[in-house]
Amino acid sequence: MCGIVGYVGHRPASDLLLEGLSRLEYRGYDSAGIAVVDDSEIEVRKRLGRVAGLIEMLELQPVAGSIGIGHTRWATHGEASDINSHPHRDETGRVVIVHNGVIENYDRLKSELAMSGRGFRSTTDTEVVAQLIGWKLDQLIESGRAADDPETCWDALQAALGELKGTYGLGVLFRDCPGHLWTTRCGSPLVVGVGDQEFFLASDTSPLIGYTRDVVYLDDHDTARLGSDGIEVRHRDAGIRDIPVQTIQDEAVDIELVDCPHYMLKEIYEQPESVRSALRGRLNLDDATAVFGGLNADLAEVRRIDRIVLTACGTSWHAGLVGEYLLEEFARIPTEVEYASELRYRNAPLTDNTMVFAITQSGETADTLAALRECRRKGHKTLAICNTVGSTIAREADGGIYLHAGPEIGVASTKAFTSQVTVLALLALYLGRMRHMSFRAGQSFVEALQGMPELISETLECHDRVRRVAMRYADCENFLYLGRQYNFPVALEGALKLKEISYIHAEGYPAAEMKHGPIALVDRQTPSVFVTPRGGVYEKVISNLEEIKARGGPVIAIAGRDDDRIGQLADEVISVPDVPEFLQPLVTSIPLQLLAYEIALLRGCNVDRPRNLAKSVTVE
Ligand code: AGP
Ligand code: GLU
Repeated sequence: MCGIVGYVGHRPASDLLLEGLSRLEYRGYDSAGIAVVDDSEIEVRKRLGRVAGLIEMLELQPVAGSIGIGHTRWATHGEASDINSHPHRDETGRVVIVHNGVIENYDRLKSELAMSGRGFRSTTDTEVVAQLIGWKLDQLIESGRAADDPETCWDALQAALGELKGTYGLGVLFRDCPGHLWTTRCGSPLVVGVGDQEFFLASDTSPLIGYTRDVVYLDDHDTARLGSDGIEVRHRDAGIRDIPVQTIQDEAVDIELVDCPHYMLKEIYEQPESVRSALRGRLNLDDATAVFGGLNADLAEVRRIDRIVLTACGTSWHAGLVGEYLLEEFARIPTEVEYASELRYRNAPLTDNTMVFAITQSGETADTLAALRECRRKGHKTLAICNTVGSTIAREADGGIYLHAGPEIGVASTKAFTSQVTVLALLALYLGRMRHMSFRAGQSFVEALQGMPELISETLECHDRVRRVAMRYADCENFLYLGRQYNFPVALEGALKLKEISYIHAEGYPAAEMKHGPIALVDRQTPSVFVTPRGGVYEKVISNLEEIKARGGPVIAIAGRDDDRIGQLADEVISVPDVPEFLQPLVTSIPLQLLAYEIALLRGCNVDRPRNLAKSVTVE
């Protein structure tokens, strides 16, 4: 949730901050604002709404200065409004901050500060942090400390941080120390870009592209001061730290829309290449298996695995469900898929040889990070299946497998899903060939995977058909999505896609479950989307489809090529290439992504920035 940017250097800060916020807006877009050190004052410009509105505001009320911070908000405490937008000041104006996260004890702190006479303007938890830092600063100044001494600012900040409970990523400016920018994190992501006599602060690396590829990743409880004299990092417990500068990979480069109307559509059409990237260098034809460079697990350890836990949220959780079928069928390892938000608080009885995989596109999802930390705390080997190089989860896991899908900007996850499924298929092959899977079976598996990018390209040809189906059903207010086995998670994912970008109520179910209640929802205004390519349970799904038809429910079928039988039964048929059952999610999910996209457009929804959502959920 939310995006933070900062700049310290020789260029005008305002333009850089606004450009960085535009690149981070997919992380949250309730409101936006910047603060710039202009001579001896800190000028703040902020407002409700998108970054574009803030840019207009700055055109009318420009600010000068080469040090500043910025924020795009996803509200957690206090409605989206001008006054609740960031940056927030303390009442004296000496302290200005931006914040990503949730302060859990803000109400107690707010009461204490109010009792000490501090007046609040907003209803956010963030303003409490600004006021607390200001209060600590005032106390230090009253004790004789110099307001313009950076050490006074360090001490005021550290004293305030020591009283916070919850999560934060902060950018902090002190009016009386105008040449510096402080930043600190606990549970929310922050990265520092290192340029030539200039520093950049951001929630992820996208604002740094084009300016620097050299970065310093802050850890929880690190605080950094950026100034003309360089960067200084102090850890709450460990004191001064010398953190190495790393260089980010090229893949975090393609963030321009080019000639595509939306990031979501661009990313749907990138899937042949993103799946190709997930496979690249990981298929060993000679041994009919998969190879990974970053698992960091020795063969004996891998062979001892007797249970796998896949933990994730949202779309990544759906990919995990596909992974469960793959790992249990091909590696014969008992596998459970856990919502990270549940696993983090559940005392799951995992065995010593349980391997835990966190599946995450952003690598910053708070619940997934917390679940990973909980499993690590109990000594379990934890690996990340992640798309964002250098993200917190990628860095904290014992090892992992990158998706290499390139930046996914659209809030609705698409290419990350198919890349996650691809990586999980590779993992099932790798583990299966270590156990009982035959060389021949491995060869068939490899050949099937090699053919997928081309088959995904072929699948995208259904777009015009999907557009026509969307036009017929865009006004419906309820949908059912039904599938079985490998296509049950696809049904869930299709329902989520429709929900999150068109705001239509949609539910996914195992097709047979529909008889146990949901069929009561069926009527002529409630379409049922059946994911029913040919496979082992094809006949069963046909029966479920006929049960819906018998009750007058319209049926949209995602079917294999030239399936005349489905053609006679369903109201609409969208065909996908015939592929082996265990890889069907890589093709059946695509028409569902396109269906959600086209229906959302017809309903006038903001496809890339759907209401109430953000791309990276870095709060609980
Ligand atoms: C999916 O379209 C949503 N954007 C959301 O459910 C997302 O998958 C979830 O928040 C997990 O994000 P992650 O993969 O970055 O951890
Ligand atoms: N909790 C803060 C607020 O509601 C920050 C939210 C965010 O991370 O954007 O303003």
